[in-house]
Amino acid sequence: MNNDVDKNKQLRDLYDEVMLPNYAPASFIPVEASGSSVWDKNNKKYIDLGGGIAVTSLGHSNPELISALNDQSKKLWHLSNYIANEPAINLAKQLIDLTFADKVYFSNSGSEANEAAIKMARRYHHESGSERNEIIAFNNSFHGRSLLNISLGASDNHRKGFGPLPGGILHANYNDLSSVEELISNKTAAIIIEPVQGEAGVVAAEHEFMLGIRDLCTQNGIILIMDEVQSGVGRMGHTFGYMAFDIEPDILTSAKGLGGGIPIGATLAKDKIASAMNVGSHGSTFGGNPMACAVASKVLDIISEPSFLDKVKEKETLLVDHLENISRKHQAFSAIRSSGLWVGCELRNHGEVNKLLDRCYESGLIAVSAGPSTLRFAPALNISEDEILEGIKRLEKALSI
Ligand SMILES: Cc1ncc(COP(=O)(O)O)c(C=O)c1O
Repeated sequence: MNNDVDKNKQLRDLYDEVMLPNYAPASFIPVEASGSSVWDKNNKKYIDLGGGIAVTSLGHSNPELISALNDQSKKLWHLSNYIANEPAINLAKQLIDLTFADKVYFSNSGSEANEAAIKMARRYHHESGSERNEIIAFNNSFHGRSLLNISLGASDNHRKGFGPLPGGILHANYNDLSSVEELISNKTAAIIIEPVQGEAGVVAAEHEFMLGIRDLCTQNGIILIMDEVQSGVGRMGHTFGYMAFDIEPDILTSAKGLGGGIPIGATLAKDKIASAMNVGSHGSTFGGNPMACAVASKVLDIISEPSFLDKVKEKETLLVDHLENISRKHQAFSAIRSSGLWVGCELRNHGEVNKLLDRCYESGLIAVSAGPSTLRFAPALNISEDEILEGIKRLEKALSI
């Protein structure tokens, strides 16, 4: 064992000593990063094809984002929601100009963005004098880890021991419209859906299914909430994923890639629904933080450019072509699913994804999992072709160990 190895281990041992045991992080600790390269305590380099689970949308240490953060950090950090701030107003305007939405609420995470969405949907029906409060969510969905969001999600493991959970939530099957129809009643307030189920292994909604969901909502006075926490902000090669379906939601939630690595959540809504949220109905201390909003504005400036989004699709093709090649060579994956720069590779060896992740780390590659059998890639959207190729080389090495 050399000194370098000790540096990672020392810090990792301290992690076990001081942190809640709810995660099982890798044995190395990254301390520096640039673009899609990351260096650990031992100065070992990794290619980052995980993107912090679709968060570092413009790579690490992006000079334009650093500059936006630096500039704002010298002006104003925080007020409170008694006083508005300029970066938040500008970011809201930008989101409205880019989407279907008329109004925006800011929070700090995807979970909070979803909480606000569900509260808004229920409040809208309440204010309209209706008794509707049921929410239809989907099996295999993931919406976050708050009590409400684990109720929306369908994982028994995420729920175990945390009850009683918020009620009024029903689950339909993804890509099965009749299972949704069966659950609709005069109590249904909203349907919440991911355009692509990321945590389930990058499983996309079929076009007809999504159009059907939109129709059902319109016909029955149900609010359509799109959870775009993972799919939004260029990930699917569109500014937001719903744009791939040529439909509009009534509420949309965003987080992850919106801040490029700075925590921010946003809930976007049509005027009619947003107007139910009168003064005092909801709030957050840090939501709309000027520094987070200044960075998110810069992220949106960059990713919403059509030429940038075209490149995301080109890089998707490059990445998937190479993954298919090495999969054939190594008999590694039984399926490769992609939606933009967001790829789920289903392992032939079911349940072995953690072992493969360890081999990736050993080979100097960061990827993430989605469930026990899917290797997931959600790299920076501005990753270079060279970095993709280097990542692929390292994946091939990991598959050969
Ligand atoms: C679709 C979706 N919704 C919500 C969340 C929760 O976001 P956060 O972890 O920021 O609360 C996630 C996180 O993975 C997600 O993928």
